[in-house]
Amino acid sequence: MTDQGIVNSDLGTLGFPRTPVTTTARGPWLEHWLETCRDLSVLRATHPMMDAVIDEVDGRMIRVGGHWLADFASCNYLGFDLDREIIEAIPAYLDAWGTHPSWSRLLGSPVLYEDIEDRLTALLGSEDSLVLPTITHIHMSVIPLLAASGTIFLDSRAHKTVYDGCQVARARGAAVRRFRFEDPAHLDELLGAEADPTRLVCMDGVNSMTGNAPDLPAFAEVARRHGALLYVDDAHGFGVIGERTSDESSPYGMRGNSVIRHAGETYDGIVLVGGFSKAYSSLLAFIACPTEVKQLLKVAAAPYLYSGPSPVASLATVLSGFDVNERRGDALRADLYALTARVLDALRRLDVETPNRSGLPIIEIPLRDHTQIDAVGRFLFERGIYVTLAAYPLVPRDEVGFRVQLTAANTVEEVDRLILALEDLVDRGELRSARVAAGALESAA
Ligand SMILES: Cc1ncc(COP(=O)(O)O)c(C=O)c1O
Repeated sequence: MTDQGIVNSDLGTLGFPRTPVTTTARGPWLEHWLETCRDLSVLRATHPMMDAVIDEVDGRMIRVGGHWLADFASCNYLGFDLDREIIEAIPAYLDAWGTHPSWSRLLGSPVLYEDIEDRLTALLGSEDSLVLPTITHIHMSVIPLLAASGTIFLDSRAHKTVYDGCQVARARGAAVRRFRFEDPAHLDELLGAEADPTRLVCMDGVNSMTGNAPDLPAFAEVARRHGALLYVDDAHGFGVIGERTSDESSPYGMRGNSVIRHAGETYDGIVLVGGFSKAYSSLLAFIACPTEVKQLLKVAAAPYLYSGPSPVASLATVLSGFDVNERRGDALRADLYALTARVLDALRRLDVETPNRSGLPIIEIPLRDHTQIDAVGRFLFERGIYVTLAAYPLVPRDEVGFRVQLTAANTVEEVDRLILALEDLVDRGELRSARVAAGALESAA
């Protein structure tokens, strides 16, 4: 599924579609959703690359029925899901702890959590950190707490789960205003016009669709100047980008310690949220925050009090992942960068438009004609390429296309197979010209 969820601008203030209510035998709400999601629903029911059952994996090759495909839809950026060292470390943890401690964290927290938080805090260089099962749990519980009955300034292209966290906050009395994507000046304007003293700015780090990181120093400066707390979801940056050094192994920087360190920023006035479910291939997420906030969350954030915990294998994967990250992470990031550059170089040579300006391993490729999404997806599937389809209403119609994600476990052969398929899509006229797009931008400016 595409990460930004159902296009937020198509939804009314309560998150329901804006189309007028028609009463049918099915009931108006169901009818609304069926209509809004019709394109996606047809794709889901008929397309081999939607809601697919994966029968087998072999490295980054996957089998769907009788088809073996190179997988470019995985977010396992560092390839930890397939790393023998990590896989082999897990049984010892299961022997020691069983498969699953079923206490909520407040009831009983295996010391593994303390180990993870200590190592994570040291890696990030934050004051403290708290781990909870998923980023979704964190957004739903932490955003409403931080916003209280104040005002949230929400990035208009923030991830659907951030948006949903803001909706929960709104239901509990917060106001929500939206600022334009990648536009710190607009945020500045909105904050300047706001009388409410409690201000929370919510935005993505590395964007899950464009693959670009925001101008974090600019947003942090605006937020600090207006006394707002900046809340950043860097699900896709954590593990991939990190602190810059003169001897870095790639432009991704070192250690994979996320967008704040990559941008050379401090945690002053910034709360960072990230997860292990992408680069670290595990079910766990974190919030990096001051100790005072962590102590508050331990009594006020519902998932800490009530949710079932992550399985022991997930905690073990994270701990072992830290070891691998320390010793081999920068080499894996260098491999990832090289594979990504191979695809981006091909797109430049082929004059194909992509919003990716960063060189990060998320490459969105919009279609020339959004109605071709079904056919293009089938073509890629037949060519043995598995990608994420970005269909309407997951993205606006003019952004319908597909997203390619690279991981360190992909091979050069798989990438070359992808490039051959892209060349054929260009020959068929399915993709957009980067030159035409740049020209259109210039004349609009
Ligand atoms: C930016 C972003 N935030 C949050 C999430 C959800 O993460 P989790 O599965 O940990 O809830 C995702 C997953 O796709 C994401 O891309």
